[in-house]
Parts: sequence; C-alpha cells; structure tokens
Amino acid sequence: MSKAIKNIALFASGNGSNAQNIVEYFHDNDDIKPCLILTNKASAFVIERAKNMDIPCIVFTAKELRESSKIIDILNDFSIDFIVLAGFLLRIPQNVVDLFPNKIINIHPALLPKFGGKGMYGDFVHKAVKEAKETETGITIHYVNAHYDEGQIIFQKKVALSDKDTPESIAEKVHALEYEYFPKVIAETLS
Ligand code: GRF
Repeated sequence: MSKAIKNIALFASGNGSNAQNIVEYFHDNDDIKPCLILTNKASAFVIERAKNMDIPCIVFTAKELRESSKIIDILNDFSIDFIVLAGFLLRIPQNVVDLFPNKIINIHPALLPKFGGKGMYGDFVHKAVKEAKETETGITIHYVNAHYDEGQIIFQKKVALSDKDTPESIAEKVHALEYEYFPKVIAETLS
C-alpha cells in the first residue's frame, strides 16, 4: 500500500474489547488510523466503547451488508484502506472482498484450521477446545475471503492448556494473546 496514512475500519459484533485495544494501540500513530467502527448489532457494547473513545460508529443490518451498497459507500466516505474484523460474526460478501483484496483481516480465537467455520465463534470455540481435550490452543490472524475462516494465515500464536482449564480460563488465555499480538500484526501487515 503506497499511501502514507492508512485508515482502518474495525468491524465488531459484540463486546468490542479487541476493537478498543486496537484503537488505543494506534492512538499516537501518525500513519495508521483506526477511524471507524462498524457493527451489525444495535445492542453491541462496542457502540458504548466507540462513544467513549470518540470514534464514529455505524450500525447496519445483515441484509444491508449482503444486499446493498451501504457498507461500500460508508467505506468510501471514510476513505478506508484496510478492514479489521475483531469479533465480527457475519460473512463478508464477495463484492466487499473484491474491493479490498488482501486488505481485510480477521482474528479467530483458536488454531485454524481446527475449530473454525460457521457457528465456531466466541465461547463455542473454547467449549469445543475443552471437549476435544486439546493440550494447546491459540489465535489465528488471517486474510478474509468470502468463506468463513479460510483465508491465508498471516500469524498464529499458541498457548498451552492443562486439564484444569475451563472454557472461561481458555477464553482468558486467548484474549491475552489477542490483546498482545493483534495490533502488532496489523502494524506489520500495513508496513
Ligand atoms: C475474540 O475472542 C475474537 O477472537 C473472536 O471474538 C472475540 C471477540 O471479543 N472472533 P471482543 O468483542 O473483541 O471482546
């Protein structure tokens, strides 16, 4: 990407702790600007976080994402260069993927290709990891294509699990990795 300043849009469907962590990480960065949050859920806590951080937040519906140009128009209006999915639960349609080739990344809270695909999000992932008696889990950051969790992997980080771990403690370990590595990987991907 040649342009010096890169405007990032963050998509989030729920709590938004990763979105907030990313906005804070780049707060004093002159080149990488998380400047917009988009959510498909009108009750998502990420909206509150966006208000507190004084960053514009736009709510849209799944239908608008699938069937209208609303999202593309918004991304153009904000001169968005790069999209980060941070806990975003809907599939990105092909027309958006086509406009942002290798410029959309997602974080998945497990070591893909294990525990990925439709319905594998949040606590469902951590419960499945526990049930499978995995000895490790981790995070996967990958490019996004129009299929769930199938784009090229950019980065993975593992964390060990013991049989004492619960889905809740697994979630905590995974969140710690997300907060530490996701912003750094975004910076590296954009450099
Ligand atoms: C994270 O674990 C992320 O990996 C997954 O959904 C969770 C979102 O958490 N895709 P938050 O909304 O960032 O707090």
